[in-house]
Amino acid sequence: MFTRQEAVQTLLRGRPRQPRGEAAAFAPANIALCKYWGKRNEELNLPITSSLSVSLGTLGSRVALAAGRDRDTVELNGQALENDSPFAQRTLDFLDLFRPNADVRYRVAANNTVPTAAGFASSASGFAALVQALDKLHGWALDARSLSILARLGSGSACRSIHNGFVEWHAGNQADGMDSFAERLDATWPAFRLGLVIVSGEEKPIASRPAMKRTVETSPLYGGWPVKAARDLEELRTAIRDHDFGRLGRTAESNALAMHATMIAAWPTVLYWLPESVAVMRRVATLRAEGLDVYFTMDAGPNVKLLFLDEDTEAVSGAFPGLQVVAPFW
Ligand code: PMV
Repeated sequence: MFTRQEAVQTLLRGRPRQPRGEAAAFAPANIALCKYWGKRNEELNLPITSSLSVSLGTLGSRVALAAGRDRDTVELNGQALENDSPFAQRTLDFLDLFRPNADVRYRVAANNTVPTAAGFASSASGFAALVQALDKLHGWALDARSLSILARLGSGSACRSIHNGFVEWHAGNQADGMDSFAERLDATWPAFRLGLVIVSGEEKPIASRPAMKRTVETSPLYGGWPVKAARDLEELRTAIRDHDFGRLGRTAESNALAMHATMIAAWPTVLYWLPESVAVMRRVATLRAEGLDVYFTMDAGPNVKLLFLDEDTEAVSGAFPGLQVVAPFW
């Protein structure tokens, strides 16, 4: 089986190997409207289905990187981490794929503008920023497709955070994953808004990786998921092309609910919802019944993301005090 190391070697063939000086990069977080849930290859983060997301503009991660010779260090939001902490371990394990030799050390400083590990995909923006900082630090000058593949090796959804706007991740079907990468859709929608409802900033009870695996292996509902995802992807492409907001909202909300249904039916269940999450979902249904065009989506965590248009910002913010509104196309 093709390994992550072989994927890196393939993409970096003929490129410079030694890191020089310092480099930094920013990448946006992304929220999927058609979700990625389930891998066909665990090592390479190859998905069973294609997915489609919208990037969060200025909300994401900035990663600064420097090469050194003494020891690896990892900082998160200004705090030095122990190298055996989960975040540092995951970061250093990824950097091991790129070290030209054992005495090259990296200093990493990551700053997130989204809450870490609360379902706001900070790992996606983090790995996408890290890959772009690595590209600058080594002078690889890779194209967006290669950067997307490298980011995918860190975290699947990170391959979409290489781009802004609406982004589609092509699942691909090659065993080496060289056809599994994300591309920006040629579309913009200035009135499109997302609202982040933070019901809990706590770390989620189960990470997406084991949760996906358990769903694929044990959920009796997973068999229906690839069919649903393929249909929703078509719907979303059309809705985005036509700026048909109702179509986009219905599709994204039902896609998220279907994904959660597959998880909930896994054994032991993967239940990310808190009572507060359900209260937000019910409130959205009530507002919609009253005529407000608002929909929700949810990822692997208890927080809820609202979808609406600029003209309804005041009404939606009034219904959800403290709502953080994001304009992805500004
Ligand atoms: O890339 P991961 O392992 O963090 O998985 C992301 C999974 C979801 O956020 C639930 C869906 C998605 O497509 O982003």
